[in-house]
Amino acid sequence: MDPSSQSDPSAGFLPPLPSFATRAIHVGQEPEQWRCMAVVPPISLSTTFKQSSPGEHAGFEYSRSGNPTRNCLEKAVAALDGAKYSLAFASGLAATMTITNMLKAGDGLVCMNDVYGGTNRYFKRVATQQGLEVSFADCTKLEVLKAAIKPNTKLVWVETPTNPTMKVVDIKACADAIHQINKEIILVVDNTFMSAYFQRPLSLGADICMYSATKYMNGHSDVVMGLVSVVDNSLYERLKFLQNAIGAVPSPFDCYLCNRGLKTLHLRMKQHFKNAMAVAKFLEADPRVEKVIFPGLPSHPQFELMKRQCTGCPGMITFYIKGQLSHANAFLGNLKLFALAESLGGYESLAEHPAIMTHASVPGNEREELGISDTLIRLSVGLEDEEDIIEDLKQALSAAVSTRPSSLVKTNNNKCQQSGIS
Ligand SMILES: Cc1ncc(COP(=O)(O)O)c(C=O)c1O
Repeated sequence: MDPSSQSDPSAGFLPPLPSFATRAIHVGQEPEQWRCMAVVPPISLSTTFKQSSPGEHAGFEYSRSGNPTRNCLEKAVAALDGAKYSLAFASGLAATMTITNMLKAGDGLVCMNDVYGGTNRYFKRVATQQGLEVSFADCTKLEVLKAAIKPNTKLVWVETPTNPTMKVVDIKACADAIHQINKEIILVVDNTFMSAYFQRPLSLGADICMYSATKYMNGHSDVVMGLVSVVDNSLYERLKFLQNAIGAVPSPFDCYLCNRGLKTLHLRMKQHFKNAMAVAKFLEADPRVEKVIFPGLPSHPQFELMKRQCTGCPGMITFYIKGQLSHANAFLGNLKLFALAESLGGYESLAEHPAIMTHASVPGNEREELGISDTLIRLSVGLEDEEDIIEDLKQALSAAVSTRPSSLVKTNNNKCQQSGIS
């Protein structure tokens, strides 16, 4: 079945986790945990908690090691990920750093070659300074991934779909391949783009599911946060120790906001998908657009895999505008409803230029190889009315790209195809 032709764009994808909305609204939120029976978890600002005698406390000692508001959020996230435990961090990169600190000098880390620019920078410029052997591999190709695994490899890091070129990694196939070589290797999936609603990596064999909760999980562009979910007890103990020992924890207020954001995650994601599908179809039909990359469209090379491992697609679309950098700039400069801004996953529509903005820290030759060219534009399609979103894109395209008949012919030699994305 072709979901893009259905009124429900998620037709043909995996069914969502049963009781997802009920879990998001109730797990970890029980009024009975508070003496005042608050239905909405309070923001617990106290940094310290009174002990009845030395070492005797009511579950909390000091807010870095554990905080009641954070606890509510962590329980809810664990329930949504089908995990046993979840831990919250001060940012997505703080979560990345904490996970990486499970490794020691001399250990090997294999990272997908197409990841968020900040993840690439952290592994390449910080983790290597601490003695980790970092290598990058195209994890969409199992043979390439397997060849990258060395006897000292302790961790494999993948992102799917990738930011910004939307390559899709087969999580289960990766987990099986890695664990067949060495079952101690930890597979981490950065699930930021998908949120817990559309993809549950732990159920596909990943050991750690992590998020920049700054994006869809919070969903309101007002919190910077990271989240990590695991099933395994010993992994949890190691990460919980590091959460406290490193101390990159979020504030109780941010935990309150993210916990609140989760209550509408299922509703937001369904609407993001619906709006994004409409935008993707519009862009795909527009002659001023060279190529659209949206994993919910049959034109995406891994569309079948998406349907097999996900319950739907988020509002992330990348496309190559016809022309050159000046056309991309003109398009971005003419948008009225979309804000030209980094980040993604909020209720508001955003547009950005990865080569100059989010992925500027990726070296130019690597960007070129990945297809992050001057004409690549990334959209985070928000929750505004579909007609208004499309109208804005239409007028910005008209302002940016000439509609003379000679420029309307689609060519076969765009950079995306040259770089092997298509
Ligand atoms: C896929 C992905 N992972 C991780 C991060 C880092 O998260 P944060 O900005 O919350 O530190 C980002 C940020 O954009 C991201 O897009």
